[in-house]
Amino acid sequence: MAQRKPIVAGNWKMNGSVELVSQVCDEVKKYSNSNVDVIIFPPALLLSEVLSENVEAGTQTISEFDSGAFTGEIHAQLAKQLGAKYTLVGHSERRSIFKESDQQVADKFAKAQEFGLIPILCVGETESEREAGKTEQVVAKQIKAVISKLGIAALNDSVIAYEPVWAIGTGKTASPEQAQAVHKFIRDMLIAYDEQVANALRILYGGSVNEKNSELLFAQADIDGGLIGGASLKKDAFASICKSAV
Ligand code: G3P
Repeated sequence: MAQRKPIVAGNWKMNGSVELVSQVCDEVKKYSNSNVDVIIFPPALLLSEVLSENVEAGTQTISEFDSGAFTGEIHAQLAKQLGAKYTLVGHSERRSIFKESDQQVADKFAKAQEFGLIPILCVGETESEREAGKTEQVVAKQIKAVISKLGIAALNDSVIAYEPVWAIGTGKTASPEQAQAVHKFIRDMLIAYDEQVANALRILYGGSVNEKNSELLFAQADIDGGLIGGASLKKDAFASICKSAV
C-alpha cells in the first residue's frame, strides 16, 4: 500500500442500532493511533452517536442542494458542523435505487468539498457491463464526470472507492488480481491528468470484503484499504479487517 495511509471504512447502509455503535466503536478505537484511518458511515440518525465515541464518521450521501425546502435531505454543512469528516457519494445503491446520475453525483461531490467534507466517490460496473468488457469505460465515465465539473485538483481532497456492483452483498468478491487491475487502470488514467494527484489518491476496494479476504486484497499495490458493508456490522469481523490493513 506504498506511501498512502490505508482506510478501512464501514458502510452500515440502513442497518445498525445505538447498541451496535458502542460495540463496534469499542473495537475501532483500538486503531485510533495506528497507521490506518478507520471510518464508520452509519445511517444519518446515528452519526452523532458514532462521533460521540470519538470515532471518525461520515454520511452515506449528502444533498447537492443548499439549505431550503428539501424534505428529508442531508445537508453537508450540518454534517460538518456535527463533526463528520467524510461523505460517500455515488454509492451504487444510490445510483441504481435512487437514480442518481453521474452529473448529480458530481454535484454532490462539489457540495461536500464546498462545506469541508472529504467525498469518497464510489464507482463500479454491473455484472453485464463487466461481461460486455465495459468495466474500464464505465469507471472512467463515472470519474470523468467529477473531473469535468471540478478539475483534477478536486481529487486532492478525496478518495475513490471501486465497488463492482456484482460483488456488493453477493459474497462474490473480485479476486485480488481483478480488483488490482481496475485500481491500476484508475490510477494510470489519473496519472495522465496529474501524476502527483494520482499517486497520492487513496483508492479503496469494496464488495464482499471480509476478514478472510481482506489481507490479500489490501496487499495489492494500488488498493489502499476497503469500503466494507455487511462485515462492518460484525464487530469481530470488522476488527480483523482493520487489523489486516495495519
Ligand atoms: O459500500 C460497501 C458495500 O457496498 C459493500 O457491501 O456487503 O458487499 O461488503 P458488502
